Amino acid sequence: MALRTRKRVPIALEMELRTHNGLPIALEMELRTHNALPITLEMELRTRNGLPIALEMELRTHNGLPITWKMELRPHNGLPIAWKVKLRPRNPIFHGVHPSISQPANTLQCVESRSFPNLSYFWPQKLVLKMKQYNFDEIIDRRGTDCVKYDGMAETFGGRQGLTPLWVADMDFATPDFIVEALKRRCTHPIFGYTFANDAYYESIISWLEYKYGWRVERPWLTYIPGIVKGIAFALQCFTEAGDRVIIQPPVYHPFRLVPEAMGREVVFNPLKLENERYEMDFEQLEKIIDARCKVLILSNPHNPGGIVWSKETLARLADICAKHHILVLSDEIHAEMTFPPFRHHPFASVSDEAARHSITFMAPSKTFNIAGIVSSYAIVPDDTLRAKFYSFLEAGEFNAGTIFAYEATTAAYTQGAEWLQQMRAYVMDNVRYVDSFLRQHIPQIKAYLPEASFLVWLDCRDLNLPQEELVKLFTDRAGLALNDGSMFGPGGEGHMRLNVGCPRATLEKAMSALEKVFNPK
Ligand SMILES: Cc1ncc(COP(=O)(O)O)c(C=O)c1O
Repeated sequence: MALRTRKRVPIALEMELRTHNGLPIALEMELRTHNALPITLEMELRTRNGLPIALEMELRTHNGLPITWKMELRPHNGLPIAWKVKLRPRNPIFHGVHPSISQPANTLQCVESRSFPNLSYFWPQKLVLKMKQYNFDEIIDRRGTDCVKYDGMAETFGGRQGLTPLWVADMDFATPDFIVEALKRRCTHPIFGYTFANDAYYESIISWLEYKYGWRVERPWLTYIPGIVKGIAFALQCFTEAGDRVIIQPPVYHPFRLVPEAMGREVVFNPLKLENERYEMDFEQLEKIIDARCKVLILSNPHNPGGIVWSKETLARLADICAKHHILVLSDEIHAEMTFPPFRHHPFASVSDEAARHSITFMAPSKTFNIAGIVSSYAIVPDDTLRAKFYSFLEAGEFNAGTIFAYEATTAAYTQGAEWLQQMRAYVMDNVRYVDSFLRQHIPQIKAYLPEASFLVWLDCRDLNLPQEELVKLFTDRAGLALNDGSMFGPGGEGHMRLNVGCPRATLEKAMSALEKVFNPK
């Protein structure tokens, strides 16, 4: 029997069943679970000699992983059945750890899974996989930690005090406990000398990429980099010269423009186009823009601020065009892990040979696990020639030397983070839905683009017909909210604001009701 949800995280489940007098019951079952979708499983069991066994089973994925699984076996004559269950997740992330239960008598053997540390099994009669519930409603006071979002807000927002910060792209959720524990564990050793990236670090990234995207990355392709923006800057230094052209597709994350410009490169725009209220790449225009001076295209995959998860076809077409014109693609995939089902993230380099040969991919656990301050990014370069050039550039300046805490945090995130991520993403998606329905109901002049990934909601405020400066003032001065001004993301950003919903619901409710008061003063 094979069960599949839309997205696959392979958990192979093998069970051996016997009646009380030892007769084997043949049962083969394969479960592949992951996200969100409820699974209803019905099956019929019979003993070898044909006696029916009543079986009740309920499988429920709860926005992904919390799977509550109950099973009751009752042979027709009510005799107890000894049974054995082996849970053997197939994903390489579990290598070396085979959670298993062996239950010939009434004993329970539980081996923890690295990725789902809170998984536990109960016996008898019922087998329940229970996941820890994380609390994303908790309001944590971040003030006084020198965080940009709160403590640096007044400086960015013209000295205004007391705004509700919904801008910088980090979240107000606690960094998950397993990362904090890993860091604390390392801190019990009092020496923090030079430290290299160990096998566990590389394996955690390789396993995670295969688990998340089915992308098999080889260890030599990988290197630590001290931040994605810096990675882009290094690549520009390495592969372009002053006066070369760099293509970006606005509205897009502003350092894509600022960094090349600061380095004397010329930025050319291939603005995204809106089709059916969704951004698409404009390939006709791209072909027109490209000339011999265009050396690099910086891609936001998924797209910030539009929240777009690019399809494989779109990325493959982009790869073909760039390959034809010898343009290197820098694919920034920092938001990838937070892709909402049924959308699927495709690492750019994985979509075709052309893409793999002409790209550098940048990824990080930093956005997803709220550890931006730890600086834990990495680059992936499958092509030998590109890699030799880029990695020797990084080596020369020791730009690829990571930090103890980056290695520890990345390894913890990628070996234990699947469950937390599922729950966080579900919470964020609820926040997105809340904002969308609130706006539809109370402020229909503002429309939310539903992000296909991540916690940034792009708000279309063009129906308000306000000059950009007035629009920004409406949010800051009148509603008391600090959002990102859409115009900072370049052409196409005017008339928009970017809202960060990576926060407790109560914060968002307060913000939405403050905004409503501007429109509907009582
Ligand atoms: C698309 C994108 N890339 C990169 C970054 C920043 O990455 P890093 O802090 O690793 O430079 C952000 C942060 O908001 C982002 O949204």
